[in-house]
Amino acid sequence: MPTSGSDESIRVHDLGADEYDRQVEAYESHGHDLLFGLSYEFTRPGQRLVDVGIGTGLASLAFARTGLEVFGLDGSPEMLRVCRAKGFARELRCQNLQATPWPYPDCAFNLAICCGVLHFFGDLDPLAGEVVRILAGDGVFAFTATLPDREQTGVAVQPWVERDTPWGVAIFVHSGRSGAGWRSMATLADGCSLAALDTFQRASA
Ligand SMILES: C[S@@+](CC[C@H](N)C(=O)[O-])C[C@H]1O[C@@H](n2cnc3c(N)ncnc32)[C@H](O)[C@@H]1O
Repeated sequence: MPTSGSDESIRVHDLGADEYDRQVEAYESHGHDLLFGLSYEFTRPGQRLVDVGIGTGLASLAFARTGLEVFGLDGSPEMLRVCRAKGFARELRCQNLQATPWPYPDCAFNLAICCGVLHFFGDLDPLAGEVVRILAGDGVFAFTATLPDREQTGVAVQPWVERDTPWGVAIFVHSGRSGAGWRSMATLADGCSLAALDTFQRASA
């Protein structure tokens, strides 16, 4: 049976979980540090943070060190195993992010972060809708996204563009324009703060 794109994006992380942290360091990828730097001023010790696509925990570890309670969702049992061994997360759940609803009640969190994950999804509305639902009214959602390079004008007029990668997993470059799957994000921005960070991974054509 053919696997869906999201199954593939989980499978590659399962296979590479033990190497993941070393690879992030080797690629000099600092999206998780930047996300923390942008967001921590909105946080207070004791608040509840959900890390959407927590992986090995690179993005939420710093928040845990400043006293937040970290909850994590990810579809890869192997990435979660590596994360669990670090011992900082209060709760980790294995969950395909495309399967909704997520296993949390409404308004459960003060902060949601999502680092290096959105580029695995075309339409972001289902994911954004769940973030809106589980965040408290004054919550903050901080995320990274892959936006088009300036010369990629075609992407700017489309909601998103799918790209193949050498490792066999499709990624999606989002235009960031209205109607681009950010509808729920706009809803979120009415009641919550939104910190978008376009640095994690600029798509190379
Ligand atoms: C590039 S890693 C980022 C991990 C972490 N957020 C970080 O900053 O290092 C992407 C993560 O998204 C997870 N992921 C990808 N597609 C998913 C899906 N459909 N459902 C759940 N998790 C998924 C992978 O398992 C992986 O842990």
